[in-house]
Order: sequence, then C-alpha cells, then structure tokens
Amino acid sequence: MIKYDKDNQLFYLNTKSTSYVIGIFENEVLLHLYWGERLKNPLNTNIITQMKRRSFSADDYGDYSTNDFPLEYSTFGSVDMRLPAFDAVYSDGSRITKLVYAEHTITKGKPVLNGLPATYCEENDNAETLTIRLHDSLKDVDVYLSYTVFEDFNAITRSAKIVNNGERLELGTAMSACVDFFGIGASEMLHLDGHWARERHITRREIVHGNQSIESRFGASSAMHNPFMAICSKGASENHGDVYGFSLVYSGNFTAGIEVDGYNCGRAYIGINPFGFNFVLETGEEFRTPEAVLVYSGKGLGGMSGIYHKLYRTRLCRGKYRDSERFVLINNWEATYFNFSEEIIVNIAKKASEIGVDTMVLDDGWFGSRKDDKAGLGDWYENPDRLPGGLKSLAEKINALGMRFGLWFEPEMVNPDSELYRNHPDWALHTEGRASHLTRWQLTLDLSRKDVCDYIIESVCRVLSKANIEYVKWDMNRYMTEVGSAILPADRQGEVMHRYILGLYYVLETITSRFPNVLFESCSSGGGRFDPGMLYYMPQTWTSDDSDAEERLMIQYGTSMVYPYSSMGAHVSACPNHQVGRTTPFKMRCNVAMPGQFGFELDLNKCTEKELEIAKSAVKDYKELQHIFHKGSCYRLKSPFETDLSAIEFVSEDEKTAILCVDCKKATPNAAPEFIRLEGLDKEALYSLDGDVYGGDYLMNKGLLFINNSEHGSYRYIFKKC
Ligand code: DGJ
Repeated sequence: MIKYDKDNQLFYLNTKSTSYVIGIFENEVLLHLYWGERLKNPLNTNIITQMKRRSFSADDYGDYSTNDFPLEYSTFGSVDMRLPAFDAVYSDGSRITKLVYAEHTITKGKPVLNGLPATYCEENDNAETLTIRLHDSLKDVDVYLSYTVFEDFNAITRSAKIVNNGERLELGTAMSACVDFFGIGASEMLHLDGHWARERHITRREIVHGNQSIESRFGASSAMHNPFMAICSKGASENHGDVYGFSLVYSGNFTAGIEVDGYNCGRAYIGINPFGFNFVLETGEEFRTPEAVLVYSGKGLGGMSGIYHKLYRTRLCRGKYRDSERFVLINNWEATYFNFSEEIIVNIAKKASEIGVDTMVLDDGWFGSRKDDKAGLGDWYENPDRLPGGLKSLAEKINALGMRFGLWFEPEMVNPDSELYRNHPDWALHTEGRASHLTRWQLTLDLSRKDVCDYIIESVCRVLSKANIEYVKWDMNRYMTEVGSAILPADRQGEVMHRYILGLYYVLETITSRFPNVLFESCSSGGGRFDPGMLYYMPQTWTSDDSDAEERLMIQYGTSMVYPYSSMGAHVSACPNHQVGRTTPFKMRCNVAMPGQFGFELDLNKCTEKELEIAKSAVKDYKELQHIFHKGSCYRLKSPFETDLSAIEFVSEDEKTAILCVDCKKATPNAAPEFIRLEGLDKEALYSLDGDVYGGDYLMNKGLLFINNSEHGSYRYIFKKC
C-alpha cells in the first residue's frame, strides 16, 4: 500500500488501481512525481535530474530551482512564484516560509481529525497513513502532511497540520491538497455551480494558462459552487479518459482551482479560501486543515463518481442510518407553508399513511412567535396557538397513525424579532458600527462562540427529549454578511468564519451522538450546503427547493458527480410547480424522485384518485427497489445537460438486477430511434425485460432501442439476470 524506497527517497502510495508517488529531492524538497494508473515498475528517478532549472528561475538548488519543480506543498516568499499551498506572516513582518523534509511515519489505519469531519476506516479496511513532517528552521514551524490510502476504495485523502513552535504567526493560506501536474496536456476543469433552485449544474471548461478557480465567500460551501472539481483530459467522457477528482470535506468558504505556468505545469489545489481568512497561531498553537479526498479514474467521470459514491456512503456517512433503509417522508412545507394547525398536519399525515408513507415532517412555523418568516427564529419552544397540545401530543397523534414524526429546525439563525435576540443581541454575527443586513428577516448566530453553540445544543436537545421525534430537518437559510464576533479581539476577526464552521461541527457532533436514533437531514434553502462535511453528521441532504421533475433531472445528475443518490432528499410536489410553474405528469415526478431519498412535499388530500394510485404504487416500488438505488452502482448514460433525455442506470450489489431510468424533457417530433447503451452488465449473461430476453453483450455494445416521442415521458426498465 504505502512503500518507502529509501535508496531513491520515493514514497509509493498505491491503491488497487492507482499510484501516487512523492520524491524527496536533496533530502529537503518534496516533489510530486506521479499520480495515475497503478505502476507495476519502480519509477525512474532520472525524471528528477531532467527537471533542470530554466532561464531566469532562481537557483535555490544549484542547477535546480523549486520554481520549476512539481511540488507537494509549496510555500510563499522564496523562489517558487506560483500560487502557494502555504503562506504565513511572521512576527517580524516577514512572509517567507521554507519547508523542508524532516521525517516521516507510516501507520496502519487512519487517525481521526479532531473537531473536523473526515472519512474513516473500519477495522478490516486496507488503509494506511503516511505522515511527513516538514520543518522551517528559522521560524520553528512544522507542517505535517497526512496521506491516507484507502486501497480497496481507490482513494487517497490528504490534510495538513501546522504546528507553531516559534513566535506568533498569522496563517493566510493552508491548502488541504496541492498537486502539480507536470507537463499538463490539453485538459478541462469540471465543477458544479448554480444558485438557489438550480444547484450543482455541470460547468466544464478548457484549462488555459493562468489561474482558474471556483470559490465560496458566503460562509457556507454555497449553492453557487460546490467544494469539488475534476481535472480531466480533454474530452474525457463518462467511461473514457483520465479524471482527477478533488473533493473537500468542509462546509465553509473554500477554493479549488488550477494555475498553469509558462512551462505547462498545472498546480491544482483545494482548501479553505484564503480570501478573508487569517488565523493567528501563538507559540505552541496548531491548525488542522479540512480533509481533501483525491480520486483518480482512468475510466472517465463515471469511474470517479463510482469511487466517491462508495467511499462517501460507507466511509463518510455514519450512524444507524448509514446502511439501513431510510424513511419515506411527507413534509408539509409546500402543502401549507405557514398556514397550518395541528388538525391540518394530522389530516395530511392520515392520507399519507394510507399510501404507505411512514414519516410526517412538520416544517417551519411551529415555534416561538413565528407566524411568517419575520419572527421567532432562536426561540425553540412550541407555539401553543398552533399546537395546543404541544409537540408531544402531535407526535402521539402521528404515531397513532403508525407513522414516525419529524421536525424542522433552523438553529444557526435568529430573527431580531425574537426573545433570543432581545436578550442576547451580541450573539449574532456583527461588526460594531456597521449595519447588519438581514436576509429573510434573519441574522446568523455567532457559532464561533461556545456559549452560543451550547445554547443551540441545549435548545435542540430539550425539544428532541420532550416528544417522540425520529427525524430532524436541519435548515440554514442565509449567507453571512458583516461577519464579526463580539468576543474575539481585532487581530482574530479573520478567524470567525472558520471558527463558525468548527462551532457548527461541535454542535452537530454533540446533538447527533446524543440522539443516535434520530435520522438527520441537512438543508440550506435546498442544496446550499450540500457538501461532504455535512454528510459526515447527517447522511442525507435536501437536494434543492426546486422539486420540478425536469429541473431535478439536471440537479440530481450534477449532484451525482460526487454524491450518491442515497444522500439526496427527493420529493414529489404539486403542479404547477411552485418554483418554476411547470406542469409535469405525476408519474414522472414520482419516477424522478424515486432514486433519491424518496418522499412527498404536498397535501395528498388534494390529489386525484388516479394520482393517489400512482403515488401508492411508487411508495411500494421504492420500498422494494431502494437498496438498488442506494447501494448499487450508478451509471450516467445520457446527460440532460446535453440532450433532451436523462438516462441513469442502477445495478444491484449482487449484479442480478439493473434499473434503467429514462426521462424526457422535450419530445422530438417524429423522433428517430436511438440506442441507450447499458453499463455494468454481465456480457455473458441474458437479461429479461417484461418477457423479452436480451444478451448482456447486446445491451452493452448496442443498447436498448428508445424513441423519444413523448413530452415528459418517464420510463423504468427493470432487467433481471436470467
Ligand atoms: C428552506 C427549505 O429549503 C424549505 O424546504 C423549507 O424548509 C423552508 N426553508 C422553511 O423556511
């Protein structure tokens, strides 16, 4: 797995199918020498001697220059002029760091990253960790680079720990990973972008000289960009081409990008956004970066996604619901918004229970003085006008229908019109002298403060203890502005946004471990914080407020680049759709939601008999098939970004069943027949489909004949191995 070749000073980080090679030059400089398909033979170190210094590069190593090397963790202030992975300002005002190799250890397994979410390994996993200590002798700073190799998963994780043994320093940049692609050829950068109601659409662009990056400055990972990018060989498709995935296990401000220099070396990086980040380390203090998860696939984008899906589903998500079947929810938000009473909620639940829905979720509006979105956030006690018998009585009524009861919270926020704000105005993020701007009438609580975090823990736990609540939707509906903390000194205000995220993780760890039987789902105005950091605490995320079936085809397709369908909350809602006004057939709405964490976001009492019939059979199908959607392998066959069709296939773990989901956006008049080529089948085997029998080889080589002649046509083909 991890091999150290002492004679040549090379580290081989081998997974089943990939190798990542690091070299030590002149006992000092860490070089990035290879990342790609697994090497069977030793690396020829001549490649290092060929990397001679070029014209006008400074000669920090005689004939060689760190400016011209592919590096593992670059620093600012000396010879390397490219974007640094590490940058700090020291107490004498200087901004120069020189990190050289000091020592390394190789250990079994993977240590936990205290206070930060991260992938983990289980006892029998083939995982090893290499930790390399780099040292700056003048400033007495150590940087520990950790690499964990998940051999069977084909993934490598990276993070860095900075330990300051010298005088006070201010950390400006500390990337989680930096990979120099020496001699990068024609390549593309793929990332996931959008906004509210159209999250994680796919952007793909040619990589050119200079820096190209995505970032969040919102305080959350955001709907605008996702903490992920892939560097792909030009034209890489779903099953061909080299793809290098970078995913960050973090929920706050991040950056990811690649800077290509004049010698065609592409420096790819991912980590906390250095913009607005300034973290003071006094003598003896340390800083840990979030974890980056690196995946190489020589089999295109599909190969990369398959690795992320498996790793994130089984070695990032935790707890009781990681492997078990989840709930079929009905949520009252779009059914009632703020206009509900106990009776209305019970009536929605009653109808839902008749078709097999097992969990009723009460959304926003049950607490404090909340009649609309202008008041009440922060006051987490029931509103007796709405719920005369309180949550306990409502939960009992729902339980009496044979259903679970779930509840919405937005604990990180406060309305100025709330008891909490009147008592603790300084608990909201703010900066003295600056007007604090409201978004949706609310301010963000200062989770960099322990007392604020403890208030949230106490309030949420109190509510969860008083009624039988088995599911929580944890919402967060604004980005941060006028960021400042009342208790941090002026020179530490640059730490607030990161400390907020650390505070959030402390809150989530405490609450989720106190209530291990509760299923938690995160949400941020839909998918505004759909990231691996949140998935560590909550195994599913509300994918988007946009539940229009056509829009969801794209949102879910883009999301699946990194995240498994088991992590995507997906509900059937009413038409005309509340976000886009579009009307789609009920069947298509059910079919599109079904591969995710399936549920409803409407009042089934208002549905026709025909719709109820479809809903009932969808719930039944989902219960039978969810293990295939969630634990099987997922293949993207036709992209809704490129065609009027979306085709996704799921192959069961035992490889005996394949479900092909085909959904049409627009029909083509007098459409020509086309073939949808399946993946992941056994070419030797026969497959039956509704009485017909096809060869696996035919389905994979040629495909299933399909004619797109029906607007919003939605089809499910279930192939059974004979
Ligand atoms: C935003 C969420 O995305 C919605 O589903 C709903 O919970 C509202 N917040 C409630 O305020």
